[in-house]
Amino acid sequence: MTQSYTAVMPTYGRLDVAFTEGNGVWLTDTEGKQYLDAISGIAVCNLGHVHPAVTKAISEQAGKLIHTSNIYQIPLQNQLAEQLTELSDMEQAFFCNSGAEANEAAIKIARKYGHSKGIDKPVIIVMDGSFHGRTMATLTATGNPKVHAGFEPLVSGFVRVPYNDLDALRMAIGHWPEAVAVMLEPVQGEGGVKIPDADYLAAVRNLCTQRKLLMMLDEVQTGIGRTGKWFAFQHCEGVVPDVMMLAKGLGNGVPIGACLVSGPAVGVLQAGNHGSTFGGNPLCCSAALAVLDTIKKDKLLDHVTTLSSQMSDAFKLALSNQPGVKSIRAMGFMFGIELMMPCAELVQKALEKGILINVTADKVVRLLPPLVINTDEANQIVNLVSELVLDFLASQAVESVA
Ligand SMILES: Cc1ncc(COP(=O)(O)O)c(C=O)c1O
Repeated sequence: MTQSYTAVMPTYGRLDVAFTEGNGVWLTDTEGKQYLDAISGIAVCNLGHVHPAVTKAISEQAGKLIHTSNIYQIPLQNQLAEQLTELSDMEQAFFCNSGAEANEAAIKIARKYGHSKGIDKPVIIVMDGSFHGRTMATLTATGNPKVHAGFEPLVSGFVRVPYNDLDALRMAIGHWPEAVAVMLEPVQGEGGVKIPDADYLAAVRNLCTQRKLLMMLDEVQTGIGRTGKWFAFQHCEGVVPDVMMLAKGLGNGVPIGACLVSGPAVGVLQAGNHGSTFGGNPLCCSAALAVLDTIKKDKLLDHVTTLSSQMSDAFKLALSNQPGVKSIRAMGFMFGIELMMPCAELVQKALEKGILINVTADKVVRLLPPLVINTDEANQIVNLVSELVLDFLASQAVESVA
């Protein structure tokens, strides 16, 4: 058992386990017990733990040069920006250290874009149920009252509409002449693996183009292969955002975020408008370049697509007719099993069984396995999670009878 350290601020409700080693989808704790990691450090270790290509890249880079400053040229940053813009069909990238910072950059771009059009008090339209981070502006953008509580006054200049509701978005755009951008996730991760209708993103894109608003996609969780495409927007033909935010899987655990721009968002930020001391330093860029290279070389996007439909079929076979299961959703390696009742206790039960899972939005079992899992590991995840859910539902039924 681990000790609880009172010198660390209690901002997280931590489980009583600490890991000492990782290898692919497997983690080993301080007692030598092994766990199947079906959550990848919350969509971060997309290549699994301690991937040899990332370890090699950062070890070699650490032996050469870790950090200079963004006041100098950084060739690895240029290479990474070229690769990301090519993969996304976008034009330029700014590098930072986290998802919240990537979103902060996007929010600043939206405001400055508004000012350039003579709008003094620009408004950004954001979504119910969204999650964008914990800084003041990104927690304001986040559509979850629990994240706001205690931090009022929130930042001004945000209005909220229901997700996946085009009429509501149209109305908000009509109502707010100061609107400059729409900021949303292509799939809401923390919000419960909510996948919008197939035509939603394309319709948002059209509305943004018609009304000259920036379409700003938060791909912090969905990006870098997570959904079986490089970026989730690539599931929707004809959609390229004006601003896209990345982090999590980009460095496979080495902290790096990015904010990409195209079209009207290019050139909005100029020298002196934004910055980050560590952002895009040689060490984290070497990790991100190794990540992109591995996804290409190992054809992981195809792998995710194939295995995702097998896993989702298997989950449906095991669980979809069970009373207590509301829906089973999947896009690539983002799985959400929504139950009819709160089920947070499943996380501890899973831990005891040697598998790491997550419960979000109270009732949704969320799985974000590494993209590299093989069929056997995929089957183990499906079997263990199905068993856990079935046992939990049976215990709930007994409780309600008693
Ligand atoms: C969609 C999305 N945006 C932003 C963030 C915040 O990222 P970070 O914790 O790196 O600041 C998260 C984190 O879960 C996320 O899922």
